[in-house]
Amino acid sequence: MKDHTLRVSAAGRVNLIGEHVDYCGGKVMPAALSLKNTIFARPNGTDKINLAWTDIPARISLDIARLHEYKGVKYADYPAGSAYFWQQAGHEIVGCDLLYDCTVPFGSGLSSSAAIEVSTIAALAALAGEKLDNVEAALVAQKAEREYTGVNCGIMDQYASACGKKDHAILLDCATLAREYVPLRLGDHTLVIANCNKPHSLVTSKYNERRAETERALALLKTKADINCLADLTPDEFARIAPVLDGEGKVKERARHVVEECDRVRRAAGAMKRGDIALLGELLNASHASLRDLYEVTGDELDALAAAAQAHPACVGSRMTGAGFGGCTVSIVKKDGADDFRRTVSQKYEQAIGYEPSFYDCTVEDGVIVEAL
Ligand code: GLA
Repeated sequence: MKDHTLRVSAAGRVNLIGEHVDYCGGKVMPAALSLKNTIFARPNGTDKINLAWTDIPARISLDIARLHEYKGVKYADYPAGSAYFWQQAGHEIVGCDLLYDCTVPFGSGLSSSAAIEVSTIAALAALAGEKLDNVEAALVAQKAEREYTGVNCGIMDQYASACGKKDHAILLDCATLAREYVPLRLGDHTLVIANCNKPHSLVTSKYNERRAETERALALLKTKADINCLADLTPDEFARIAPVLDGEGKVKERARHVVEECDRVRRAAGAMKRGDIALLGELLNASHASLRDLYEVTGDELDALAAAAQAHPACVGSRMTGAGFGGCTVSIVKKDGADDFRRTVSQKYEQAIGYEPSFYDCTVEDGVIVEAL
């Protein structure tokens, strides 16, 4: 047992573009945020993981030999699930005290759950004296997320949380997990993240429904083209074979979103590398329109927030980010217009929806940080 206290954090994320394509083999462009889950961790020499939180009074002790038994236990399930799957992957779990402090707002669509999962795994690895394989941590955290939230999610959130890099977006190919870090060179622009504060959302059921629709689309399109995933199709190839999806409800629209969004990611990555902020903004706007009209995952609140943002003269582009149905938008805004942007968007949104949005002050940071205290 090593006698030390560690501070281990993993980030929440914002996705710049590439929405609802990670589970279709597409590329995404998330960035890790300074909003994060921090764990103060120390070995305790027992066969228990003792959990505590800075902002909730619960205290829960997990038996390391029975980590699978905490599913559905409020507050404890994500830490226990992450520890359980990490153990299942063959890693040593040492008895410890873990104090959680999360600054990613819950239910914001900025992946507080991924931050909790990844930081738990990173803390357990550090306590056991192991060098963390960040990609393995992301994959194990994704397993915990699927099992414990019931959301059949892709890899984007956990990967961004585990592998994010300060001042960079990650251009991640979700089919191969190959990544490229793209510097976030926004010049005199900044990212503004706003929460629409919608109180309830149906994200789990609707998310899984969309996923099933894309799987149906793939099965039918495979009868016409030699593809492994929807992301293998260009918009032109898709247009040619799309009639095979006729009569399948909204399946054609869902697939069209995926194919065109993948094309937008490709163009957005080029725009970012060239510093073409205007084009990047246009692509964000087009992404939101597609998520609203073809994929139908926005809703009145996110639509009102994105519309108010897009109408502001300092804004070059705005879209929903994450799973949708509620949560946040991300906007690219001229730095010297950002205060007025927040004020005006807030007023317009309140007029339309009846309550205010929230804005978060955050920067793009490393995903996982481990420090000895
Ligand atoms: C959620 C999921 C991700 C991804 C996004 C939509 O955040 O966890 O895997 O599918 O929705 O892009």
